[in-house]
Amino acid sequence: MDKRQRLGAGLSRRRFLYGSAVLGAGFLAAPALAQQVCRPTAGDILGPYYRFGSPFLAKLAGPEEAGERLVVSGTVLSEDCRTPIANALVEVWQANSTGQYDTQTPGNFTDKGNFHLRGMLYTDAQGRYRIETVMPGRYPVPPNLPGLEQYAGITRPAHIHFRVMESLHVPVTLQLYFAGDPYIAKDPWASAHPDSVIALEAEGEGRRGVFDIVLSRGV
Ligand SMILES: [Fe+2]
Repeated sequence: MDKRQRLGAGLSRRRFLYGSAVLGAGFLAAPALAQQVCRPTAGDILGPYYRFGSPFLAKLAGPEEAGERLVVSGTVLSEDCRTPIANALVEVWQANSTGQYDTQTPGNFTDKGNFHLRGMLYTDAQGRYRIETVMPGRYPVPPNLPGLEQYAGITRPAHIHFRVMESLHVPVTLQLYFAGDPYIAKDPWASAHPDSVIALEAEGEGRRGVFDIVLSRGV
């Protein structure tokens, strides 16, 4: 199959999936429909508090960290929503339980200071990842952020930032949100990314949730 044929096959598959979603809308309840739709996880802004070079670790928060314990796990999948992607790099960063990042300087991406509540890991042979952390706190969009002036003061719902990449797929940057957060509806980013909102369930003293991430093929 040459490149043109492969592109054609890809288009057909996407059209088929779109067609399935439209067909399903008439017959299936919303939760069942959501499970049937296969699409790459939508990307979102990087945000002002990203920093390059976070340490390799999956346990972002130790027992000394204030806040409710949270475990997020999932699988990174290729665009067929079935094939696991091993050795995908999963990078996460978040605010602490009071809504503070380890840097409060927007755009301080190359700062090499102490990293806190940030980490990166590779998915295992089955494409799985698992992070241990605490529930991130909400925080207001700071004033005078270039390009975000109109959103200053909006309370961001609790979220964890992700950046996921693998050599044969298109990297994605996104934010993970938690169902039931009353601040999702008025947040311009969370409200536009319903596929990045997961339900949490109680686990011991804390909560846990599953978030699978689908990457587009690069060719
Ligand atoms: Fe954030």
